[in-house]
Amino acid sequence: MVNRQVLTLDEFTIREMRAFPKATGELAGLLRDIGLASKRVNVEVNKAGLVDILGDTGDVNVQGEMVKKLDDFANSQFTGVLRHGISCAGIASEELDDMVIFDNEISRNSKYICMFDPLDGSSNIDVNVSIGTIFSVYRRVTEPGGPVTINDFLQPGMRQVAAGYIIYGSSTILVYATKRGVNGFTLDQSIGEYCLSHPGIKCPQSGKIYSVNHGNFFQYSAPVKKYIDICQKKNKSNGGPYTQRYIGSMVSDVHRNLIKGGIFMYPGTTDKPKGKLRLLYECNPLAYMVEVAGGKATDGTQRILEKQPSELHERTPLFIGSLNMMAELEECLGVKI
Ligand code: AHG
Ligand code: MN
Ligand code: MN
Repeated sequence: MVNRQVLTLDEFTIREMRAFPKATGELAGLLRDIGLASKRVNVEVNKAGLVDILGDTGDVNVQGEMVKKLDDFANSQFTGVLRHGISCAGIASEELDDMVIFDNEISRNSKYICMFDPLDGSSNIDVNVSIGTIFSVYRRVTEPGGPVTINDFLQPGMRQVAAGYIIYGSSTILVYATKRGVNGFTLDQSIGEYCLSHPGIKCPQSGKIYSVNHGNFFQYSAPVKKYIDICQKKNKSNGGPYTQRYIGSMVSDVHRNLIKGGIFMYPGTTDKPKGKLRLLYECNPLAYMVEVAGGKATDGTQRILEKQPSELHERTPLFIGSLNMMAELEECLGVKI
């Protein structure tokens, strides 16, 4: 029996839509499309470990496609579903050099564009560690009816209408935020539906987890090293020493910190002053979600969400998490953001 007390993702988004008498249902449709694409990706991610066995059957094609290109597969699923849906006028993806304009009658008239990192943490696939998809939705700045332009994509993160992620983990969860709040839906594989499991997620103000790549320690700036030092010291007032957790899939690291409280950092290094993470596909959506949940996200000098992007694949340092930990960090950095 399906438990009818549980709200599915579709029911929830339609309910939310009813709070806005002028809503057209496009956003609900877009979220449904993203949910659909993620279910297909989920199936393939779950089969990743079987690839060698399937390969033995002689089906080279399947093997080739599944193994080496799971992020390509995810990319084409999200792009394909959104292209054929009725709610998205174009996309940009970490896996593609350029934006894709959906130049058909229905898409051209849609008011939203979507950007995504189709598989975040993809180097973790072959070792069964949680990976995910991160997405970001904006209202286009050009008029619906014509094709989207680059200006529709290069908007500061604070203009996001919705942002979210799916984690293909020990269970599969879709979490998304609008300005009304952050909600999580766990995939019930038996009925193929995302069901509301984490309503009204709030990021704890304080936490005890810090997440950073310690391998880069000697390449961080002195203030960042100082903060890491504080994280490791015994400290009665903040409950230190903190616990270090770093999965290497930021979507999973940030998800854990969002639920439990914590800070995730990918600072600039001497080799890569802007760090590694992409502003549009990774940092903006997670910053939006964490801010809606009551946390904070900066690049060490300004709010992530206020950064004006100048190119699609722009990178930025990222500090994101619980308010009190972010304040401690800012003290070390000598800034107040
Ligand atoms: P992607 O798989 O989309 O390229 O992203 C991986 C990112 C991020 O998820 C993770 O936190 C970070 O790379 C890890 O990088 P390091 O190995 O340099 O710490
Ligand atoms: Mn990524
Ligand atoms: Mn990726």
